[in-house]
Amino acid sequence: MIILSIETSCDETAISLLEVKGGKKNPKFKILGNALRSQIKIHEQYGGVFPMMAKREHQKNLTPILLKVLKDSNFLIKNLDDKNLKSKSLKLEAILSRETDLLEHFKKHILNIKKPKIDLIAVTNGPGLEPALWVGISFAKALGKLWDIPIMGVNHMEGHVLSILPKTSINKLKFPAISLLVSGGHTELVLMKKFMSYEIIGKTRDDAVGEAFDKVARILGLPYPGGPEISRLASKARTSHLAPPNFSLPRPMIHSKDFEFSFSGLKTSVLYLVRDMGQLSETDKEKIAREFEDSAVEVLESKTRKAILKYNAKSLIVGGGVSANKTLQKKIKVLGKSLNVNIYFPEKKMSTDNAIMIAISAFFNSSKAKNRKKEIKAEGNLSL
Ligand code: KG4
Ligand code: ZN
Repeated sequence: MIILSIETSCDETAISLLEVKGGKKNPKFKILGNALRSQIKIHEQYGGVFPMMAKREHQKNLTPILLKVLKDSNFLIKNLDDKNLKSKSLKLEAILSRETDLLEHFKKHILNIKKPKIDLIAVTNGPGLEPALWVGISFAKALGKLWDIPIMGVNHMEGHVLSILPKTSINKLKFPAISLLVSGGHTELVLMKKFMSYEIIGKTRDDAVGEAFDKVARILGLPYPGGPEISRLASKARTSHLAPPNFSLPRPMIHSKDFEFSFSGLKTSVLYLVRDMGQLSETDKEKIAREFEDSAVEVLESKTRKAILKYNAKSLIVGGGVSANKTLQKKIKVLGKSLNVNIYFPEKKMSTDNAIMIAISAFFNSSKAKNRKKEIKAEGNLSL
């Protein structure tokens, strides 16, 4: 089966074309095309993502990205003597009445493409920024109508869980499993008693851990997104044998018996610390970055350890942008060894937002008829 997938939940516009061979027990994934345009440069100046600006960028980017993916996978064939252009154009006008920019792009660049051999169109319908999600959904609906291909809404967080799959064989996953989902919008511990079953056992009460990295980076005058920047400074501090810092940051909720997190107080502690320290040198920044990263990672590791022990988990899946953090990876690998639990991380390009993970999730849900009948709507707070 061939799946075209669309991801616009936050600040990446991404489309992929994935071929899946074999059944659900032993699928073989082949990426036929994959393109992504990041809006980092646009949001950088604000230190975070602005929903209306994200929406505008998705509107601009979707068509060129689709054309690139179709071209790269040899699916871009122009149909120059199409007799139904007029009626197709009318259908699109009905669907894209509130997306006039997309409508223009469709008329100019998409209407005259020969229907590609695609079985399913998958689109992220939540969680995320609703104005951004809607652009992707409208785009998917218009394509589905134009080419008469079914479309399906996909939960972005399930995408992050399944993002380990292209490199991991599904047969290897043992259950129960715990999934630690750490991104710019989420920090969740999820119990999976079996494949594709999810029970959120704990989450953040305030900021997500990625958001805390981004906010602390901003306090230290580092660019957005902050995760990689903080990580870079922290590792400098670790390798340059600096004298140990004469300050420490809290490890919020590390001793609480539940699986909840809280990162907003940690960020505020950094703010007060920086205020007290006055002018910061480069090494001051490195020390703060290290102490902050240690704090965030220790809390994540400790709660994950408790969850694995409580539920007797046999596997641990880590997903979301923060899973690219090297210190977290090291600590979690040690944890896996000490508890004899298999650890799964996504490949780096699959850890942050992408469309391949959306196609994978759609593949495993493709037989669920209910997904196809239900009108697809953006759901900013969609839960697993
Ligand atoms: O999953 P993602 O791409 O988008 C959301 O769904 O939110 O995650 C983005 C988040 C950002 O907050 C970014 O700072 C963080 O992931 N991030 C990292 C690293 N790389 C990305 N955080 C810590 N260390 C990293 N190496
Ligand atoms: Zn994400």
